[in-house]
Amino acid sequence: MSESINLQHFLADDQLKQNQLLALIKLAIKIKQTPADFSQVLLGKSVAMIFEKPSLRTHVSFDMGINKLGGHALYLGQQNGKLGERERVSDYAKNLSCYADAIVARVFSHNSIQGLAEHASVPVINALCDLYHPCQALADFITMTEQLALLKINDISEVKLTYVGDGNNVSHSLMLMAAILGVDFTLVTPLGFEAEADVLTKAQSLAKASGAKLNVTCDISSIGAQDVIYTDTWISMGNEDANQKAQILAHFAPYQVNHNLIKQTGAKQVMHCQPAHLEEEITTELFDSDMSVVFQQAENRMWGQCAVLVSLLTKE
Ligand code: NVA
Repeated sequence: MSESINLQHFLADDQLKQNQLLALIKLAIKIKQTPADFSQVLLGKSVAMIFEKPSLRTHVSFDMGINKLGGHALYLGQQNGKLGERERVSDYAKNLSCYADAIVARVFSHNSIQGLAEHASVPVINALCDLYHPCQALADFITMTEQLALLKINDISEVKLTYVGDGNNVSHSLMLMAAILGVDFTLVTPLGFEAEADVLTKAQSLAKASGAKLNVTCDISSIGAQDVIYTDTWISMGNEDANQKAQILAHFAPYQVNHNLIKQTGAKQVMHCQPAHLEEEITTELFDSDMSVVFQQAENRMWGQCAVLVSLLTKE
């Protein structure tokens, strides 16, 4: 299984082929269903986890997932100084490669992820950067795959998915994976908060190759029938500016995921990567409702990452 996925690193969504992504989703579901079969696959292996930003789900899901696979995880916060300041990113990568079998990194800049991958002699996994959050998008498509029957859909490529909110790392990864998988994807962002132009261009070319529909708009009233609505915080980690908060909340207010939007689109499910800012990007009522699959997404972070680790570190 891992041989056919054949990954060197897990850095950015657009580096994945459709067959690799489908195989990762399948492997994650297999590990989730039969974890005992995988309990020794990382025996004797260690994973160094660098965190430049806060984390609940990513930290815990990697740590416990690695433990479930029989491996050992080491958390590295900022206690050793900032990445690239006390030591160069290249030296960080080379030193960690002396001890670890893989590096997981949550960083501010995608350049740091690229620098780590360039200089490490072990696989590197992107656990969120300014541009991408591929571990999240993988968990999201695992979750949608599990929900197909409920959505009354036969294949993941038939899902109609809309992301509403800030054109950020989470939206980029979701859009790219949707384009790879052939999913009908709509990105709705307020004016001035669109996706990065380069990422959009990549998504458009991937969508062309897979036959996916990709619709990008600022007009929330224009989106038609949808199966799933997704949202994320309007202010990402590192972009917090107390002086701008009120202005941003007012600008984004029409883009809240609420009962009216569900009525307008007929969506059956709502998704959120969390942490959620209730009554900002999503209402408490919807977040807590039966339509919400946010905790399935959170759980699938662990199984998706296990699949990535198995495919990177084992040759079954
Ligand atoms: N866009 C958010 C995702 C948090 C998981 C952030 O970067 O802060």
